[in-house]
Amino acid sequence: MEQAQIGVTGLAVMGRNLARNFARHGHAVALHNRTAARTRELVEQFGDEGTFVPTETAEEFVAALERPRKLVVMVKAGAPTDAVIEEFAPLLEPGDMIIDGGNAHFLDTRRREADLRRRNLLFVGTGVSGGEEGALNGPSIMPGGSAEAYASLGPLLEDIAATVDGTPCCTHVGADGAGHFVKMVHNGIEYADMQLIAESYDLLRHAVGLEPAEIAEVFRTWNTGRLESYLIEITAEILDHADPATGQPFVDVVLDRAEQKGTGRWTVQSALDLGVPVAGIAEAVFARSVSGHTGLRAAAAGLPGPRPNSADASEPGLADAIEKALYASKIVAYAQGFHQIEAGAAEYGWEIDAGAMATIWRGGCIIRARFLDRIRAAYAADPHLPTLLTDEHFAQALGDAQDAWRSVVAAAARAGIPAPGFSSALAYYDALRAGRLPAALTQAQRDFFGAHTYRRTDRDGSFHTLWGGDRSEVTA
Ligand code: 6PG
Repeated sequence: MEQAQIGVTGLAVMGRNLARNFARHGHAVALHNRTAARTRELVEQFGDEGTFVPTETAEEFVAALERPRKLVVMVKAGAPTDAVIEEFAPLLEPGDMIIDGGNAHFLDTRRREADLRRRNLLFVGTGVSGGEEGALNGPSIMPGGSAEAYASLGPLLEDIAATVDGTPCCTHVGADGAGHFVKMVHNGIEYADMQLIAESYDLLRHAVGLEPAEIAEVFRTWNTGRLESYLIEITAEILDHADPATGQPFVDVVLDRAEQKGTGRWTVQSALDLGVPVAGIAEAVFARSVSGHTGLRAAAAGLPGPRPNSADASEPGLADAIEKALYASKIVAYAQGFHQIEAGAAEYGWEIDAGAMATIWRGGCIIRARFLDRIRAAYAADPHLPTLLTDEHFAQALGDAQDAWRSVVAAAARAGIPAPGFSSALAYYDALRAGRLPAALTQAQRDFFGAHTYRRTDRDGSFHTLWGGDRSEVTA
């Protein structure tokens, strides 16, 4: 039997497209699927794209691979991944490698990597972004695992990844679960990006008064400037689409309940554990959640809104202001995501190069955008940037946008249009800017009711005021 450089098990659309991508790049690919019909189908349909080695049993699959073996697992995250690992691991030899290309939780990846390391096997949890199309034509790839594993696997992955300016959108992210962690944050940012675009659409439609096809045109114009991105591009296409059955704007016939497979929620859960304020991402997750609570929404539908005419429907320049608010809020969302990556790296002992993450997100993935090149440049100028907000370019953009940003948030509030992404991003910006925060009062309250102590602005140490007594201060 011909020996394959890499094998893919799990030939649903993502696995099938990755296998074809490897084959199209001249790598012989062993194929395996729980039901062999799918394997045969792939070879029948796409066999002429490269060298495929179809196999029907786990033993055959393992035997078809060159050593050290590289098995890419493309199955549903969670228990199915564990089951496939347990099916193959006993058949492997020291130094062989299992690669999980699904959207696994990074803590599962850490557990699996440690377990397989004890069994002298390498495990690489890798983020793959770009959907079906990306998997086939060039995704953004975020592999974790050991440097040793990357040394032999990396060239294969870099071969099939998207490229921007000749640079592959793939790099070794860091040890064990680092790749899946970064993919998780990528998805959190994806949620925030989508929410901000949705708010822009809502305001353009209901505060500016444009029709979907006109809004498509606005997005198309934005897509020629600093907001140029895959998500803006597809938004224009969606808004221009008429439902073939009814002739209505397509966006009007889609039920307004946004679902999620959960990676955005994971991002926020992890951020809470790490103590990182990813408020923009959280608002995006909660906005989807609110949309799904149809019972609550129906119950509240009769609550009073703003009086007619109190909306700034005719405010001149509102559309341009929305572009500025979107850009500024987007900077905030990415700043929060990169903060989480930095905090995750510190917590789990990963060395993650933030600039390299921006570089591999420039192409292939769902959040690909011209903007990412700016972030890459910001980290190139200062690898220890405390926050993206203080990078010279972004600080200036925020400063230029802030008046418009404030007026958009105010207009949304006056019109009764929910804009949690815009307003939370603005609040974050203002909180970081503030010389003093009312957290001082919060801390004093904690001391009042729970003797939780406080620190002072003028002296070191921890203190407690005897609130129930003579209100003198004692050292805690
Ligand atoms: C990607 C995407 C992808 C994600 C879908 C759906 O990078 O290609 O992030 O991995 O699964 O976009 O995500 P939700 O169902 O959570 O919206």
